[in-house]
Amino acid sequence: MPRLASPHVINIADLRALARKRLPNAAFDYLDGAAEDEVTAKDNIAAFSEVVFKPRQAVMTNPDLATRLLGVDLAVPFLLSPIGYSRMLHPRGELAGAGGAARIGTGYILSTISGHPLERVREQNDKVFFQVYLMGGREATKRAFARAKALGYKGLFVTIDTAVAGMRERDHRNGMGPLMARALLPKLRYLPEIMRHPRWLARFLLDGGMPALPNVVTDTGPLQATDVGRALENAHVCWEDLKWIREAWDGPVVIKGVMGPEDALRAVDEGADGIVVSNHAGRQLDGVAGSLRVLPAIVEKVKGKTSIIFDGGIRRGGDIAKAICMGADACLVGRAYAYGMAAAGDAGVDRALEILIADLKRTMKLLGANTVKELSPDLVHLKPGFRVD
Ligand SMILES: Cc1cc2nc3c(=O)[nH]c(=O)nc-3n(C[C@H](O)[C@H](O)[C@H](O)COP(=O)(O)O)c2cc1C
Repeated sequence: MPRLASPHVINIADLRALARKRLPNAAFDYLDGAAEDEVTAKDNIAAFSEVVFKPRQAVMTNPDLATRLLGVDLAVPFLLSPIGYSRMLHPRGELAGAGGAARIGTGYILSTISGHPLERVREQNDKVFFQVYLMGGREATKRAFARAKALGYKGLFVTIDTAVAGMRERDHRNGMGPLMARALLPKLRYLPEIMRHPRWLARFLLDGGMPALPNVVTDTGPLQATDVGRALENAHVCWEDLKWIREAWDGPVVIKGVMGPEDALRAVDEGADGIVVSNHAGRQLDGVAGSLRVLPAIVEKVKGKTSIIFDGGIRRGGDIAKAICMGADACLVGRAYAYGMAAAGDAGVDRALEILIADLKRTMKLLGANTVKELSPDLVHLKPGFRVD
């Protein structure tokens, strides 16, 4: 992948810049944007700079990044998070994500709002998980579970932070609603900007435009992309639904979207095999803390009782090291790989993951940590005022 090789793309910010160049505003902002003033999204990233490393020097290291999570061996301590509408970023979408994860020996979480079917995604990677919104109701969800189970999906990530879609102002300004609509007339105002990216447009149109959702099959067939907003409003998962999910799915269930110790404890009580400490990339409730800030209080309450997975704002391998030092068992990366996907499909995902792994190995060498287990609390210091309890 010569176009993405160093020195042109040396970090995730470079991939983001490339994605911005190659995507129309509406698609780039869908990926890059967050809710309202994007305070939480910014804090997800800023919080990392308030965690300071305390290295152990003069130690010989040859870092081993392998770990085990939810009964699955992973070659690296992070997985690729679910990104809805990935196929709008690049026609290969979820296939590129799952394939990239497989090439580095880790897991991929397929969003309910996905454009490629469970079956094809599974062909790319045997360490695949399914992210759950109750979209299309319990019957549609049951159908997806049955397919996922038969295909050997390793577990569910149930997202609990989406009672309603967050107010993503960039999407409103860019006309994402009208652009998704079937009628041409409302789109017209937004088309000139999109026409400025003929390569993206050609790929998108050749791919058939916005696909119906092959993994949300209702009584009337796959859910249309235009109906997703409405369906999402009735897709919110509550604790009562979780009991049903546990009965309907025989395998690991992880709760994604925990932002405080009370919900973490509740998840443990409900029998969750893991939790994801996450504020949905700041795309839901703006004004909550950067997710790293709530990690210490959650770790204090539930470490050892359930797997703790950290998510939000990871842009460097060193960020992964910090979250693990603070008690996470593993991390999810979202935009970091999705910028790569948007910039260059499979090659972009590969480059993003290569950067994160090189960063993480280098950080562990400089820290004097040989294994993921050795990434311990004594290697970091939290600046005063960092924690949110
Ligand atoms: C464009 C986009 C789409 C997303 N779609 C979903 C989704 O369908 N389901 C879900 O649980 N989380 C979704 N998320 C949240 C991610 O899974 C993850 O929590 C978040 O991206 C982590 O933050 P980061 O992007 O800073 O790494 C989405 C995030 C983005 C940026």
